[in-house]
Amino acid sequence: MAMTKSIRGGGGGGGGASTVLVLLLMLAASAPAARAEDPYVFFEWHVTYGTKTLVGVPQKVILINGEFPGPRINCSSNNNIVVNVFNQLDQPLLFTWHGMQQRKNSWQDGMPGTNCPVAPGTNYTFKWQAKDQIGSFFYFPSVGMQRAAGGYGLISVVSRLLIPVPFDPPADDLQVLIGDWYTKDHAVMARLLDEGRSFGRPAGVLINGRGGKEAADPPLFTFEAGKTYRLRICNVGIKSTLNFRIQGHDMKLVEMDGSHTVQDMYDSLDVHVGHCLSVLVDADQKPGDYYVVASTRFISDKSSVSAVIRYAGSNTPPAPNVPEPPAGWAWSLNQWRSFRWNLTASAARPNPQGSYHYGQINITRTIKLLVTRGHLEGKLKYGFNGVSHVDADTPLKLLEYFNVTDPVFKYNQMADVPPAVMGPLQVVPNVITAEFRTFIEVVFENPEKSMDSVHIDGYAFFAVGMGPGKWSPELRKTYNLLDAVSRHSIQVYPRSWSAVMLTFDNAGMWNVRSNVWERYYTGEQFYISVTSPARSLRDEYNMPDTSLRCGRVVGLPMPPSYLPA
Ligand SMILES: *[C@@H]1O[C@H](CO)[C@@H](O)[C@H](O)[C@H]1NC(C)=O
Ligand SMILES: *[C@@H]1O[C@H](CO)[C@@H](O)[C@H](O)[C@H]1NC(C)=O
Ligand SMILES: *[C@@H]1O[C@H](CO)[C@@H](O)[C@H](O)[C@H]1NC(C)=O
Ligand SMILES: *[C@@H]1O[C@H](CO)[C@@H](O)[C@H](O)[C@H]1NC(C)=O
Ligand SMILES: *[C@@H]1O[C@H](CO)[C@@H](O)[C@H](O)[C@H]1NC(C)=O
Repeated sequence: MAMTKSIRGGGGGGGGASTVLVLLLMLAASAPAARAEDPYVFFEWHVTYGTKTLVGVPQKVILINGEFPGPRINCSSNNNIVVNVFNQLDQPLLFTWHGMQQRKNSWQDGMPGTNCPVAPGTNYTFKWQAKDQIGSFFYFPSVGMQRAAGGYGLISVVSRLLIPVPFDPPADDLQVLIGDWYTKDHAVMARLLDEGRSFGRPAGVLINGRGGKEAADPPLFTFEAGKTYRLRICNVGIKSTLNFRIQGHDMKLVEMDGSHTVQDMYDSLDVHVGHCLSVLVDADQKPGDYYVVASTRFISDKSSVSAVIRYAGSNTPPAPNVPEPPAGWAWSLNQWRSFRWNLTASAARPNPQGSYHYGQINITRTIKLLVTRGHLEGKLKYGFNGVSHVDADTPLKLLEYFNVTDPVFKYNQMADVPPAVMGPLQVVPNVITAEFRTFIEVVFENPEKSMDSVHIDGYAFFAVGMGPGKWSPELRKTYNLLDAVSRHSIQVYPRSWSAVMLTFDNAGMWNVRSNVWERYYTGEQFYISVTSPARSLRDEYNMPDTSLRCGRVVGLPMPPSYLPA
């Protein structure tokens, strides 16, 4: 093997420049490199509790290598990412790579339905490939309510050499992780939900791990006048949509969930829970300090954070008039309608069934998912189509692989349409099957008064339509069948619907979930099992020998390998 060199990304080392250098060396050594020989980026993460005062009260947070937010994963498309996670918490731990498609590889998706958790005091190494997803994503701990305590970080994938992106290199590429924040301990939040109660309203909003007055001093970033900066903004919170804006500066939208968009200007952007987008900001104003604001939307308890961008050398404090947020959600829906995919940008993009023209592919199945809220033994539960998901004692993917699903779960307990008359909520492991490579329409309907945001692991989908009220087939004529943005998460407004289209061409067991974590935690999620009839390594990897075993699959003989590609 010619290429054994590795890039170390962990422990604060591995800056952008050295990474590029090693990549160059590797590319030179291996022109038409096989996939397995794509460069490796290694991380070692020690996950611990720590105490931080973020919104006025000292509280327990989750740190990675002592950092909050966790370390940024910088990589190039097609890099192999290796993360050795040491769990020094008092609870099982998993990380999921939100938005990373992990082709053929739900083995590393890090959800309770796909992986055995890393036990306290042990370590486990996740391995996945970034493939052709150029853009902004994030990771977070997926067990219980842990993500409410931190443990999240940015995943920034830049284009590998020779694949151009549709804008000039910015002067800097900055992370902006925003999210609502609560002061209750994550275990207490989980207990409240288990008891059928709510954990209440956010205590504040964080920006890059800073909240309250501390967020404004020292400045978040320093800009040099005349330069252009890329901001990668992700809403890593658990419930609230946030409006993001910069005093005196417009933002040029260039990327969303890993797709390059048509580059329009915005004076503020709604960023829903679990969504990421990139903007370019020109430092073209009078040198001074300017506020950067993220504030909650659509809830009566308003909360916000104000940080500061300083022009190099400035000693002019920001003007006191913090820019106002927009009002109402019609504004937000209209903003969503303005988002378009840049069809001429040459970066890699999805190609369902060999065609960029997703609007011309015949839909073979429509799954209409009505968010359902009900009670079990007096406790609040969410679900879809009358089924509320509950995790099993063994990850569903492993039960399926070892052919021991019986008696733990039955496939397709949830129908493709909501029942005509909603009976009592069924609380079971919720797994549906999808035929490999079929093109499917999924409609989400949210009859609640609160915002929802949904996500599909393992895929990008075309977010084609959205509107108030109930969905009906005639509304397909309102779909954008030309240049909808291909993405991994989509908002569903109160008493509204959102529709997406995708090709189920990534074999594996994939979580579909609400990004609103109390909804997720109480059952608004399910798994979709996509199996290739060929049982071929072309379509899905075998379970790695290193995969953890737990529950019912401990000690079982390894099933026969998939067939060579
Ligand atoms: C990631 O890349 C950005 C932009 O190039 C750089 O500023 C940052 O220091 C890098 N972070 C790490 C941990 O490599
Ligand atoms: C745990 O960490 C050690 C030391 O880095 C490493 O050699 C080992 O492979 C890791 N174990 C797992 C299961 O990843
Ligand atoms: C789309 O990308 C192309 C190619 O990089 C670029 O020249 C063009 O300006 C972009 N179009 C829009 C509308 O953003
Ligand atoms: C889609 O369906 C129409 C009508 O049934 C059919 O004529 C057409 O050939 C189909 N297109 C494809 C790409 O299969
Ligand atoms: C799975 O197990 C069932 C019995 O539980 C058996 O009938 C079936 O053949 C098994 N399938 C495979 C692929 O081994």
